[in-house]
Amino acid sequence: MEHDDRLIVALDFSTLDEAKKLVLELGASVSYYKVGMELYYAAGNDAIKFLKEQGKHVFLDLKLQDIPNTVAKSLSVLTALGTDMLNVHAVGGAKMMAEAAKAVEETAAKMNRPAPKLIAVTVLTSMDEEQWADLSYQKAIADQVVSLALLAKKSGLDGVVASPQEAEAIRKACGPDFLIVTPGVRPAGAALNDQSRVATPSGAFKNGSSHIVVGRPITQAEDKVAAAKAIVAEIRGV
Ligand code: C5P
Repeated sequence: MEHDDRLIVALDFSTLDEAKKLVLELGASVSYYKVGMELYYAAGNDAIKFLKEQGKHVFLDLKLQDIPNTVAKSLSVLTALGTDMLNVHAVGGAKMMAEAAKAVEETAAKMNRPAPKLIAVTVLTSMDEEQWADLSYQKAIADQVVSLALLAKKSGLDGVVASPQEAEAIRKACGPDFLIVTPGVRPAGAALNDQSRVATPSGAFKNGSSHIVVGRPITQAEDKVAAAKAIVAEIRGV
C-alpha cells in the first residue's frame, strides 16, 4: 500500500475546486485529509461529501467550544456526516467533553457506524509565554498541556492535538492508546513557513505522535505525490 493512515494532509484552501484538484492529484498516495475552518466555511458539507466519495478519511478540525448541550448536538450533526475524526477545546471543561463524547458515540451507534475519534485541543501552539502570562493561568504552558490532556482522557476523549514537542510528555502521562495528532511537521530541509516549534515526520513519531498533520510541505511542493510518498517512507522507517 502506498498510503499510510498516520499521515493527515491539511486541505487549507478557501475553495472546493482547489481542494479537489489536490486530492485528485495526490490520488492513492494520501488516505486521510484534514478539513479546517477555512474550507468548511467556504464549501461546507460538499467538502466532506467529496472526500467520502473518493474513499478518504476525514478529520474535521472545527475546534468546538460552547455550553455542553450545544457542543453535543453540533457533534451529533458532524458525526452523521460520516467524519472520522472531530475535535473540541479541552478548556470547554470535563462536562462539555464528556457530553461531546457521548453524543458522538450515540449518533454513530444509531447509524451503525464506527464512532469518529474525538480529540481535544489543549493549548494552541501559537500561544507564547507573553500571551500566556496575560491569561493568568497558574501553571506553565507545558504542565497545562499535560493536565488538559489527562482531563480529556478522563472525560472519555480519544486523544489530543499537540505540537510534536509536547507529544513525549503527553504519551508518558496518557498511555500507549491515546491519540496524539501533531501538526508543525517539517521534513528535513523543508521551509518552516510560519511554524516555529517543528519536528521531522520521523521525529514526531519517535516523540510519541500517533498521527501527523502536514500541509504546505506537500500542498506547495513542486511534485506533491513525491513529497507525500517521501513522508510515508520516512514514517514507515521509524
Ligand atoms: O502547512 P502546515 O503543515 O503548517 O499546516 C499545518 C496545519 O495544522 C494547518 O491546517 C494548521 O492550521 C494546523 N494546526 C497547526 N498548529 C496547531 C493546530 C493546527 O499548525 N496547533
